[in-house]
Amino acid sequence: MSLDQQVVHLRHREGSQEGTRYIAVASGKGGVGKTILSVNLGRCLSDLGKKVLIVDADLGLSNVHLMLGLTPRKNLTHFFFGEATFEEILVKVDENLYFISSGNGILELAKLPRDQVLSLIRRLQELSEGSYDFVIFDTPPGIHEDTIAVVSAADFPLILTTPEPTAVADAYALIKVVNKECGLDSFHLVVNKVEGEEEGRKVYESIKLLTDRFTTAKVDFLGVIKYRKNLIRRIIDQDPFDRNFTGDVYNILSKMDLGIKPKRRSFWDTLIGRLFGR
Ligand SMILES: Nc1ncnc2c1ncn2[C@@H]1O[C@H](COP(=O)(O)OP(=O)(O)OP(=O)(O)O)[C@@H](O)[C@H]1O
Ligand SMILES: [Mg+2]
Repeated sequence: MSLDQQVVHLRHREGSQEGTRYIAVASGKGGVGKTILSVNLGRCLSDLGKKVLIVDADLGLSNVHLMLGLTPRKNLTHFFFGEATFEEILVKVDENLYFISSGNGILELAKLPRDQVLSLIRRLQELSEGSYDFVIFDTPPGIHEDTIAVVSAADFPLILTTPEPTAVADAYALIKVVNKECGLDSFHLVVNKVEGEEEGRKVYESIKLLTDRFTTAKVDFLGVIKYRKNLIRRIIDQDPFDRNFTGDVYNILSKMDLGIKPKRRSFWDTLIGRLFGR
């Protein structure tokens, strides 16, 4: 076990975990690194012995499977249209790491027939609760209902940005909308593609200035992921687990209280309430 892993492992043992924790990885702007962070979080947590499910919640344009180099025959879209059983869409990456691809046929849950969406969500709930330590949702870019719902329900609403001003503005906009519409007041921020810690901290300070002034949201800075010019080559090779990248991810995990108590209202009930207003 590397030093990074040991730190997270020891911290995690302090707070014993019972039940499933939900992580939402979201941004406002596209292309900031949500998918690569989701798969690396999944890999790092599973290497720590946690059982992890990654759900590709980018229902328009799924691409988790491309990064992992896996081509699932069936996905959420097939399940949704009755063309696959739930067992058929669950993909085993290794002993502790599983994922579900969304396919490209469902657009927005909030706009689809309520009964069908409810049955899909209840199946996901049955699958995850109690069986996985962590469920990670990789969300699509943009601020739409599904993303707001997943972020507002998560135990760890993890907002990702880069130092680019447009990405920072969109990260703030997402936090503001979820705070105002859902009353969520605790968020975690990660800044990707930075040259160093200092650059990320400045981005955090600029977002905090706005959230302190115009919202009731508290934003907790989880750290940075450095820009690595070789990463694109690894993604082309469908092996996105760069040792330096996972080092940054372990750093982020070491700042998360992974043994956190689950919210009083379950992730799934909050999600359904948010999507269908009850
Ligand atoms: N730390 C990094 N260093 C270098 N390149 C990076 C880094 N993080 C992400 N990238 C690159 O940025 C691009 C977008 O990454 P990714 O697909 O994970 O973003 P995304 O937020 O999921 O995008 P989308 O919003 O389209 O879903 C990829 O080409 C990836 O190689
Ligand atoms: Mg993505």
